[in-house]
Amino acid sequence: MDSMSSACFCTPLITSTAATASQASTRRLFSTSRFHLGRQRSPPPCRASLPMTTFCAAAAAAADPGSAASRLLSVGLPRHVESMPRLPSGNGRISRLSAVVLGEALAAEENDLIFPSPEFSRDALVSSPEQYRKMYKRSIEDPAGFWSEIAAQFYWKKRWSPDVYSENIDVRKGPVKIEWFKGGITNICYNALDRNIEAGNGDKVALYWEGNEPGQDGQLTYAQLLDQVCQLANYLKHVGVSKGDAVVIYLPMLMELPIAMLACARIGAVHSVVFAGFSAESLAQRIIDCKPKVVVCSNAVSRGAKVINLKAIVDNALAESANNGIAVDLCLVYENQSTMKKEDTKWQDGRDILWQEVVPQFPTKCPVEWVDAEDPLFLLYTSGSTGKPKGVLHTTGGYMVYTATTFKYAFDYKPSDVYWCTADCGWITGHSYVTYGPLLNGATVLVFEGAPSYPDPGRCWDIVDKYKVTLFYTAPTLVRALMREGDEYVTRYSRKSLRVLGSVGEPINPSAWRWFYNVVGDSRCPISDTWWQTETGGFLITPIPGAWPQKPGSATFPFFGVQPVIVDEKGNELEGECSGYLCIKNSWPGIFRSLYGDHERYETTYFKPFAGYYFSGDGCRRDKDGYHWLTGRVDDVINVSGHRIGTAEIESALVYHPHCAEAAVVGVDHPVKGQGIYAFVTLVDGVDYTDEVRKSLILAVRTQIGAFAAPDKIHWAPGLPKTRSGKIMRRILRKIASKQLDELGDISTLAEPSVVNQLIEFTDR
Ligand code: WTA
Repeated sequence: MDSMSSACFCTPLITSTAATASQASTRRLFSTSRFHLGRQRSPPPCRASLPMTTFCAAAAAAADPGSAASRLLSVGLPRHVESMPRLPSGNGRISRLSAVVLGEALAAEENDLIFPSPEFSRDALVSSPEQYRKMYKRSIEDPAGFWSEIAAQFYWKKRWSPDVYSENIDVRKGPVKIEWFKGGITNICYNALDRNIEAGNGDKVALYWEGNEPGQDGQLTYAQLLDQVCQLANYLKHVGVSKGDAVVIYLPMLMELPIAMLACARIGAVHSVVFAGFSAESLAQRIIDCKPKVVVCSNAVSRGAKVINLKAIVDNALAESANNGIAVDLCLVYENQSTMKKEDTKWQDGRDILWQEVVPQFPTKCPVEWVDAEDPLFLLYTSGSTGKPKGVLHTTGGYMVYTATTFKYAFDYKPSDVYWCTADCGWITGHSYVTYGPLLNGATVLVFEGAPSYPDPGRCWDIVDKYKVTLFYTAPTLVRALMREGDEYVTRYSRKSLRVLGSVGEPINPSAWRWFYNVVGDSRCPISDTWWQTETGGFLITPIPGAWPQKPGSATFPFFGVQPVIVDEKGNELEGECSGYLCIKNSWPGIFRSLYGDHERYETTYFKPFAGYYFSGDGCRRDKDGYHWLTGRVDDVINVSGHRIGTAEIESALVYHPHCAEAAVVGVDHPVKGQGIYAFVTLVDGVDYTDEVRKSLILAVRTQIGAFAAPDKIHWAPGLPKTRSGKIMRRILRKIASKQLDELGDISTLAEPSVVNQLIEFTDR
């Protein structure tokens, strides 16, 4: 698929090169246009022996009297199969023959259709493709009507006017500008907490908290959560934080993390949560960019048997940002008592303030700062294909309506649900689907501080049983990691409470899907494989359980209001069964509005590659039945354990090392992490290629970015394959890294073709 790479974009794109030491030292990192259709996680090809006839229960039953379809008919349950001969895509009859119904195990590769059971559909919010299609059609034909009816279910101090939305996503027509509910005055914290309390849910548990050690736990009702949010909001106001000010939050998964986010939202401050696995350098970079009034952090966190001194990282980051002219005067530190006492924490008097000492003194009532729907809610930095992380800017009203609505439908939310999302609030999933989406629905949310395999790989299911979790949302990397530990760790727990499972962060491979479905969900639970991005705010392509049959590994169909298209490299929309670049044709309420301080980069990255569309950066295949199969990134972003990281960022960290002359990083398939980080490194002249240097290079990445970005492999590269114009041929590096040596392709255009053999020789050195 590399033929679909870089060349043919309508807009000139910046050429690729590897980072060099001098480039990194000036922090001017290169941009790339190295689009390639990434890992091809297409559906398993339909087995030749399977007739690709149209699906219909009667035909299926006749073809195979023992099939699920025939069992359905024989037990008098044909409704589903018959009510779903047409799919949401409107593509006509479904083309696969074999099927199971929720409640039945998936036995073999070809049983790749899982119908919701009649009971599940009966109780579901959307119970048939027809109902979905009707709602979807309305959402496309009348977005203003569709979304304003939903938005009206929230509290608005003043209704939006004059328009529900206005958009220009076509760079040829002028600057990209998107607004939803503009002129509407609201507050997302009010809608998540006060509104639910006023509806009589003050005593409902809003947050359960499970600590690192089994037995450490806590909980807050909606009323208690509001009290705590108000106390912190009052404190922040007291120290001078007001509407529009940035607050950086560097907290582990304690209840204080969503509390801090909501407190900022309550007073109109803009939070920027930094994942507490990022290094001091990365934290400093974000502080320097958004210039917060306050940094809120914790002194430490336990992850499994490890204690991480977060405050030491913050101290270094604050020193670094001060050196760069951004001094933060106030650091509010939450003492994570079970992990580290305040006495053992390095303290800078005057700047560092103990949360527990000051916040509880403030009143538990705090008036709401009413904001415009288009006022900023948060900034979240995310990796792109260039070195500098991008501050993705989300605003209030559209994000609120979109996260709440997607949460509700994709998980088929019921008020009695107990919902657990294993993501950290440092990533978008923790914003939209630990904090805002579920709380806006009045849901009970579990926050877990620890590591999912501590003290043993059964911990998740122990927690599921302890809290009677009904909705469990996680990443394929965790599914694969737990799958390797064997079924015993799962089956020793009941898991009877589970109702719907969810997956996010990367394509879930069909075998992991099957294990998740068969073993974790006891074949009872549909899996919502939700495709979305930091930029999209919420789900764009996702199953709606109860509405249509699932295929293991497919994110299925678009959410309401979303028009995905697959285009070729020239930007032509492809019809029917196809594969290409995934774009979206229109705006939706949850889309980000800009990159902080760099609207031009916003337009260049997302709206210029294919004029008239939002470009996702992902490859996608659409099958005969209209199901979408995400195939991974097509730019130089890789997904490691569901964490998104730009190869350029890692290269930049590597060349920061004094011994590194040049580095080129590619992603390779990894059995657990999805993608692993594979770095080709050229050392400066005179330095020996030793294991010590290798270790210190890896350490450099850990220090510059964070442990999750550490390369899995450093491949010594005395020379890199470059074109005569000096451009690194990453296609060749990817093939060498994945040992596909017979697919190296044409290397004659290289300045020095002999470099390739040399690199191959160095594979295991
Ligand atoms: C990938 C995470 C396939 C994709 C929410 C996207 C997925 C990137 C899925 C965004 C999925 C996320 N199937 N791929 N269900 N979900 N991705 O911004 O490549 O951290 O572009 O947002 O993750 O990563 P981000």
